[in-house]
Amino acid sequence: MAEVVIVGDEEAAGRLVADAIVSLIRSKPDAVLGLATGSTPLATYRALADRIADESIDVRGVRGFALDEYVGLPAGHPESYRAVITREVVEPLGLTPELVRVPNGDPASIEHAGADYEAAIGAAGGVDLQILGIGRTGHIGFNEPGSSLASLTRVKTLTERTRADNARFFDAPDDVPMHCITQGIGTILRARHLVLLAFGEAKAHAVAAAVEGPVTASQPGSAIQLHPHATVVVDEAAASELVNLAYYRHAWSNKPRWQGI
Ligand code: F6R
Repeated sequence: MAEVVIVGDEEAAGRLVADAIVSLIRSKPDAVLGLATGSTPLATYRALADRIADESIDVRGVRGFALDEYVGLPAGHPESYRAVITREVVEPLGLTPELVRVPNGDPASIEHAGADYEAAIGAAGGVDLQILGIGRTGHIGFNEPGSSLASLTRVKTLTERTRADNARFFDAPDDVPMHCITQGIGTILRARHLVLLAFGEAKAHAVAAAVEGPVTASQPGSAIQLHPHATVVVDEAAASELVNLAYYRHAWSNKPRWQGI
């Protein structure tokens, strides 16, 4: 079962997850981080940037792999995940740009982009800590419902609901690309530690399905139940449909703090 930690707000979640990442980097200066985009992880990236600056942590060797990318956005588009990862992660954290990869969404090379990405993750020794958000459809990465639990990095078609949810980042809803290239669920499950973050009422159903529902491709987030080290960090609203809430609180409040997440 995933460990579920209920926190007061996104900032508290950010501090908790940043703490785990700082410990990882201190023990492994060339740690490999799995990076989500979207709104959910931003507080974590801010908290991590603060810790790195305040404690002068050397992150020049840290490597990163983004979860996904849109297919077909022009190079340099501000909402391409390459641009978002540069703006929200690489620059504020001071990572080495060449060590942070994003799947290549260029249609010209899309046929082998998935295999190339898998090879790069493998060559890096795999992901140490994977940050995940979750969509209202239950997607992790851009693995929409129905995605194989064994899938690897490949092109997927976004649901209309996900396109509508992401329209806030674009000038017009129709500007949201139809296709993406995403790490598969099988890829994500190979990471050594999964940290899934979710905030707000709109995510409550997807969180409950991921943590307590049956493991099914119809709810891709439920794949985290197959992972030996998965941590779910949520606020009260996102936790509101969990049945075993009292137990999660009990387990967390009795966990020795030195164990972290
Ligand atoms: C982003 C990603 C997605 C998002 C999810 C939630 O790289 O893979 O799974 O995590 O769509 O998005 P937000 O955080 O914007 O609610």
